Order: sequence, then structure tokens, then C-alpha cells
Amino acid sequence: MLRRWPAGAPAVHGALMSRPTVTLKLATSLDGRIATGTGESRWITGEAARAEVQKLRTAHDGVLIGVGTARADDPELLARTSPPPRRQPVRVVMDTEFSLAPRGRLFDALDRATLLVIGAADGDAARRKVLEAAGALTAGVARGPVGVDVDAALAAMLERGIARVLCEGGGQLAASLIAAEVVDRLEWFRAPMVLGGDGRPGVAALALSSLAAAPRFKRVALRELGPDIWESYERVS
Ligand SMILES: NC(=O)c1ccc[n+]([C@@H]2O[C@H](COP(=O)([O-])OP(=O)(O)OC[C@H]3O[C@@H](n4cnc5c(N)ncnc54)[C@H](OP(=O)(O)O)[C@@H]3O)[C@@H](O)[C@H]2O)c1
Repeated sequence: MLRRWPAGAPAVHGALMSRPTVTLKLATSLDGRIATGTGESRWITGEAARAEVQKLRTAHDGVLIGVGTARADDPELLARTSPPPRRQPVRVVMDTEFSLAPRGRLFDALDRATLLVIGAADGDAARRKVLEAAGALTAGVARGPVGVDVDAALAAMLERGIARVLCEGGGQLAASLIAAEVVDRLEWFRAPMVLGGDGRPGVAALALSSLAAAPRFKRVALRELGPDIWESYERVS
């Protein structure tokens, strides 16, 4: 069954807008890790922090992850708030070769929220058809230095009515978004635990040549959430 784009998808405001606004959410240990070396990531932060993440989802038109996270965590990516949101955000997976298995919780929730898989235009066409037959929407865009080109993927989201996207990781996708200088806001939840250098980094390698080249953000809020800390940052332009 081919799914059509939902009627009444969020309006794209601003004729000059070329990409959605991008919020990057990270839930890390004190040393910036999002999972143990064995891949365990549930749960690093506590209940209060996780409830705030649900609210963040409702404030966005799309929730984005990399295919590494889709495989490792089998997430549903629905916004679970009370009351539930009027419309669930579109769940978006960046998956260059359309290699996502056409089953699991992302597909189980297709009756509640749209799933969009963005891969390379010259990615595996047969696998792309399999995902479409399972109910996902797909978009094919240019390849980038890693995976699919970030700007092209964001433009594809905007074309489909996603004007505000919340990226929930993992580390490789977070690094690509930061390297492409498209992260407008960081929502960083930090738990009082240490996972060590063998843990998975919240932000993968950026290959910076100097400290001066490091992307910088300005902190705009700092809150306690039970045992955790929630910091909000905006880009420094
Ligand atoms: N603590 C938390 O809140 C949290 C949140 C999220 C994830 N995690 C953990 O993070 C781990 C997964 O993170 P990860 O870094 O391995 O994977 P990831 O960032 O989720 O996904 C990376 C994959 O996405 C695809 N991709 C497509 N376009 C890309 C682009 N432009 N940039 C980067 N990737 C792109 C690539 O695969 P292809 O080339 O094959 O398409 C790439 O290998 C898991 O252990 C998960 O549990 C934790």
C-alpha cells in the first residue's frame, strides 16, 4: 500500500524558508555519551527529562533519527503526552540505502503517524519499494560526505510540510547536522553518570583542525529535572 502525504500537513511558513528549523536533542552522561560500548542506552536520563522530550516532540512537525538508532533502539517515536498532540510529528529516518527492515515499532505505529525514509536518489531501488509497500513514504536525495546530503534531506522535509524538526540522534547524524551548520537549537539533557571512552559519543567525530573552528552555541536556559540537568542552547551566528 502506498501512503499519501497526510491532508492538512503543517503549513510551511515563510516563502524564503529553504530548510526546516533544526533542534538537536541529546540525552547524555556527564561525559557526553549516549550509550554504553555495548549499545545500551535505555535509560540514561530520568522520568522528568523523558517527559520533557515528549513535549519537545509535540512542538515539532518532524522527529528525525539516523538508521543506526532505528536499528539499535527500535523506537516508536510517537509523542506520548497527555492530552495527546492534535497531530503526531512525522517520523523521519535518514537511511542512505533504504536498508531499514520493513517491520518493528516504527511500522507498527503507521496508523498513528507518518514514517518518511530519506535515502540516496541512487540508493537501493528494490529496498525502497519494499519500504513503500510496508507503508513508509520515501524520498531520494543527493549523497553527502557521510550518508545523504544534509541540506538536501532538510529540503525534502520542508517540501513535505516539516517546518520544525527535532533530531534525536544518534551520534553520527548529530555530527553531520552540526558539521553542516544547520543546528539552530540544542536541547541537552545530562544525567549524573559516567560511561567512559568506550561509550557511544553523543556527537561523533567532527575532524576539527583547531579550537577556533569548534561550533559554538549560547546557553539560553538551564534547569534541574530531578537528578538531571537540562540545558538549552542557540546557535551563535
Ligand atoms: N541516549 C539517547 O538519547 C540516544 C538517542 C539516539 C541514539 N542513541 C544510541 O546511539 C546509537 C546509534 O548512533 P549511531 O551514531 O551509531 O547512528 P545514527 O547516527 O543513529 O545513524 C547513523 C547512520 O545514519 C545513516 N545516515 C544517512 N545519512 C546520514 C548523514 N548525513 N549523517 C550521518 N548518518 C547518516 C548512515 O547509515 P547509512 O549510510 O547506512 O544510511 C549512518 O551510519 C545507538 O546505540 C543508540 O542506542 C542514544
